[in-house]
Amino acid sequence: LGNKLWGGRFVGNTDPIMEKFNASIAYDQRMWEADIKGSKAYVKALQKAGLVTQNEMEQILTGLDKVFDEWSKGEFKIKPGDEDIHTANERRLKEFIGDPAGKLHTGRSRNDQVATDTRLWLRDAINTLKELALPLISTMVERAAIEILCPGYTHMQRAQPIRWSHWILSHAVALSRDVERLEDIRKHVNVMPLGRLVLCICNTEIFFHSPELKFDSISINSMDATGQRDFVAEFLFWASMCLTHLSKMAEDLILYSTKEFSFITLTDAYSTGSSLMPQKKNADSLELIRSKAGRVFGRCAGFLMTLKGLPSTYNKDLQEDKEAMFDTYDTVHAVLQVATGVISTLKVNQPAMEGALSPDMLATDLAYHLVRKGMPFREAHSCAGKAVYIAESKNIHLSQITVEDLQTVSPLFDKDVSSVWDYNRSVEQYSAPGGTARSSVTSQIEHFRTWLQAQ
Ligand code: ARG
Repeated sequence: LGNKLWGGRFVGNTDPIMEKFNASIAYDQRMWEADIKGSKAYVKALQKAGLVTQNEMEQILTGLDKVFDEWSKGEFKIKPGDEDIHTANERRLKEFIGDPAGKLHTGRSRNDQVATDTRLWLRDAINTLKELALPLISTMVERAAIEILCPGYTHMQRAQPIRWSHWILSHAVALSRDVERLEDIRKHVNVMPLGRLVLCICNTEIFFHSPELKFDSISINSMDATGQRDFVAEFLFWASMCLTHLSKMAEDLILYSTKEFSFITLTDAYSTGSSLMPQKKNADSLELIRSKAGRVFGRCAGFLMTLKGLPSTYNKDLQEDKEAMFDTYDTVHAVLQVATGVISTLKVNQPAMEGALSPDMLATDLAYHLVRKGMPFREAHSCAGKAVYIAESKNIHLSQITVEDLQTVSPLFDKDVSSVWDYNRSVEQYSAPGGTARSSVTSQIEHFRTWLQAQ
């Protein structure tokens, strides 16, 4: 046990299965860079506080650079007994520079070290995900072809005509909120816990705010700093919400890509085939996007379950944050890119979309027609409903009902009712902000152009 950082008080060996069970190096090695960065800033603070000499600091910094080099060249060799990334880096530092390496951990615990590394790693991860979400949003905006009309659905039933652009932008709006949420999470992530020690023995000499770590603020309570992973949970929730949004979009598109709808065609690049049925072209990209929402939410729920029973400060349970965080990051990282690929390459079938419109989708407009003639909406709704019933029982389109038949429903109907049977006019009437009119959709697009520029 001599080589263990905490081995001093132990005489017995660790059970080999326990050794493996306890170790996190297999996955937390991803934080090697953050760990070295944190240690470099920390040793400088130790020197300022008079806890290591200038010479010791320089040796430690040079040693850490060598460790850095090994990791970046892929040459770092993990040895048995390297419990986690912090242990591994310190072990290697000691091999490079000998005894001064032991001074690096003065006033520091792995508990605040791991909190620092996790925050540094997640901060970068958040930036990367934002960089991947923005092209997806701009692709959606580019593909918001304003001229195409299509059915809008509620309860998956045909509701009213909309513009295709209105559909695509609805998903962009949700995603833009996700990007904004990411900014909020960053504020909670970008707080420096290092130098807070395990409990509340805040050594003010090493209470520092290292400019090179670029944290926005310092944790104001050491117990919170080392024992909280709410920032990880927040990220996991964020990912769950973001992928739930993309899952909704994927679900629409899977349906729209069926032969029955034929609204869109996925390119071969984002489809797969069947080993049995040669004609098949499956929307696997979208199905996987949809499925990943479940996977990520599972990570979020699982980690919250872990947090739920914990007492204050650091407990080893918190080590579970890493796999949840890395897996979630990798998943969202892939989904955002695949989604961008799918959206940028899908073929939109305008004739199929417009061919799917039918006069019954103008029943609301028929009611509005009566409202314009002074009828209260409730009554107008009922009259239009009766007209729908007549059309259905005569097995004709709503637009084919004669004025005479309509007049049996309400004397307010006149031959000017023919103006209702116009899909373009229907979408154009919603010109208030958020509506389907050309002007409303254009301002949505303009909103996004400005918003994207500000990111
Ligand atoms: N590998 C640990 C983690 O990821 C680091 C902290 C361990 N601290 C301790 N006192 N055992 O949480």
